[in-house]
Amino acid sequence: MLILNKTAGVFFKPSKRKIYEYLRSFNFHPGKVFLHKLVLGIETSCDDTAAAVVDETGNVWGEAIHSQTEVHLKTGGIIPPVAQQLHRENIQRIVQEALSVSKISPSELSAIATTIKPGLALSLGVGLSFSLQLVDQLKKPFIPIHHMEAHALTIRLTNKVEFPFLVLLISGGHCLLALVRGVSDFLLLGKSLDIAPGDMLDKVARRLSLIKHPECSTMSGGKAIEHLAKQGNKLHFDFKPPMQRAKNCDFSFSGLQHVVDKTITQKEKEEGIEKGQLLSSAADIAAAVQHTTACHIAKRTHRAILFCKQRNFLSESNAVLVVSGGVASNLYIRKALEIVTNATQCTLLCPPPRLCTDNGVMIA
Ligand code: KG4
Ligand code: ZN
Repeated sequence: MLILNKTAGVFFKPSKRKIYEYLRSFNFHPGKVFLHKLVLGIETSCDDTAAAVVDETGNVWGEAIHSQTEVHLKTGGIIPPVAQQLHRENIQRIVQEALSVSKISPSELSAIATTIKPGLALSLGVGLSFSLQLVDQLKKPFIPIHHMEAHALTIRLTNKVEFPFLVLLISGGHCLLALVRGVSDFLLLGKSLDIAPGDMLDKVARRLSLIKHPECSTMSGGKAIEHLAKQGNKLHFDFKPPMQRAKNCDFSFSGLQHVVDKTITQKEKEEGIEKGQLLSSAADIAAAVQHTTACHIAKRTHRAILFCKQRNFLSESNAVLVVSGGVASNLYIRKALEIVTNATQCTLLCPPPRLCTDNGVMIA
């Protein structure tokens, strides 16, 4: 509480004249200034501490984010108590920054929206307890947000998309296909039976020690795999796409991860190198694992589109597939999905990369 009192105290309260001047510079009508409903969104479900202020028309007034990727890369994965501690250290600063950039004081907020699930319990707890104290202090309404629903609806900030549409969420913690019928009306069509694709790519990148590769040392595992794959030959290794016979839209990535792991061990023996050293065939392995991941994701998505069209869940002529999440920034995977949407007369939409990954805007 002490921290929050301090937080509220340090926000400067601009004069009305200054607010009018600022808003006029964005062509806002001064008479309508205080009709805006401003929501503060707070996200701490995994390893990003993020906050943003968004109004009811989707305008982003200000946002701030602190990524923990660098720390987690060094420890070889997310350690929940470490993530929790980093959220604790940064949440106040990030919320304050989002409000300062928005040039509003906390009292001008209409509500506070915060991710409450799903995610890492310790990380979620930091955002939730911070928000509840703020809510109590400012006497504002609280809006609990489902992280996946926020991801799925983000596209509506940048594109005019009518319900229903199909959404594919692929990241380090998520993997699902759902039909979005309304703001909180989702039909889950498929999900990963084990790990998410980003998690698998991160594990493969760690097993290949890509952090030691001069071109990849600061990249997330998935990004490192995409980068290295460009220099490799995907045909040098034959990793079969998982679940070829499963007549549903579920995914699986841990089998592929184990096969790749065994291949790496085998190659290390052949090249006479220790675990932890860079393999000469790392780029070929990266290209092959990326290709198999793209094939698997594209095939399951193809099934989901056909299923939805057959049942008339999606418009025959104007079906939309939205793809989001960190893995959606992979251009090879996007290309595979483009082949599927072209073949099924669907429109493929991806939010810009900064809105694909975890952020405060989607929560607000
Ligand atoms: O959405 P996100 O920022 O966080 C959550 O997991 O919620 O996604 C991060 C994941 C990581 O696993 C990272 O390796 C993966 O997205 N990723 C990528 C790429 N960039 C990030 N995977 C494949 N290709 C990329 N270019
Ligand atoms: Zn997410």
